[in-house]
Amino acid sequence: MKIIGHRGAAGEAPENTLQAFETAVNAGVWGVEFDVHVVQSEIVVIHDDSVDRTTNGHGELKRFSIEALRNLDAGNGEKIPLLSEVLDLCEPLNLINIELKGGGSAAALDAYFRHVKPRTTTNLLVSSFDYHQLREFHFAQPDISVAPLRKSLDSRVLDCAHELASANLNLSSRNISADVVRQVDSQGLGIFVYTVNHIDEAQRLKDLGVAAVFTDYPSSLLSLQT
Ligand code: G3P
Ligand code: MG
Repeated sequence: MKIIGHRGAAGEAPENTLQAFETAVNAGVWGVEFDVHVVQSEIVVIHDDSVDRTTNGHGELKRFSIEALRNLDAGNGEKIPLLSEVLDLCEPLNLINIELKGGGSAAALDAYFRHVKPRTTTNLLVSSFDYHQLREFHFAQPDISVAPLRKSLDSRVLDCAHELASANLNLSSRNISADVVRQVDSQGLGIFVYTVNHIDEAQRLKDLGVAAVFTDYPSSLLSLQT
């Protein structure tokens, strides 16, 4: 089972900051996951559509200029990173999972990769709960893998995975049983599970045969990585 640093390493450093990604890389993770929004045509790495929870500022992202956004403190003096900064830092990893959050992020990510050709696309994975955006991105960039996100297994997530030729589904840990793993496996797909912060739960999922877990605490779970 592989360990993926969630929002970098959200439990060990301010989430979705360069410090969090450095922490994850230094811990020896197989991959990282982070969330993206678009602000004034720039792709920024932040989970919410407002800055209130994760920075010293207030208000919706769309009300900010990119300069004002970059002047905020996202924790420990860190800035909200640009996509390019996170990609540079995480390039050596086996997996860089970009989760499309905000409206317009599929089109912006497509435009980004047309402008800045990635050295390799084999370690890139684009995921989303929003299947319209995921579809839009997949048909624009068919060489980059995509994975649908869903709370629990259903026909909607399976249909999306097959339509977009995904290798895996990204599902919530709350709804993973031996039966779910069997069903997904029988369709030729793997499961990446979010968000797993306790070693006992990670061990349970490993025993069930899930391919990877997203965790806020990569240092704690790394002993389970094979
Ligand atoms: O990509 C896995 C996980 O990050 C999905 O949920 O809300 O933490 O972005 P969320
Ligand atoms: Mg996410």
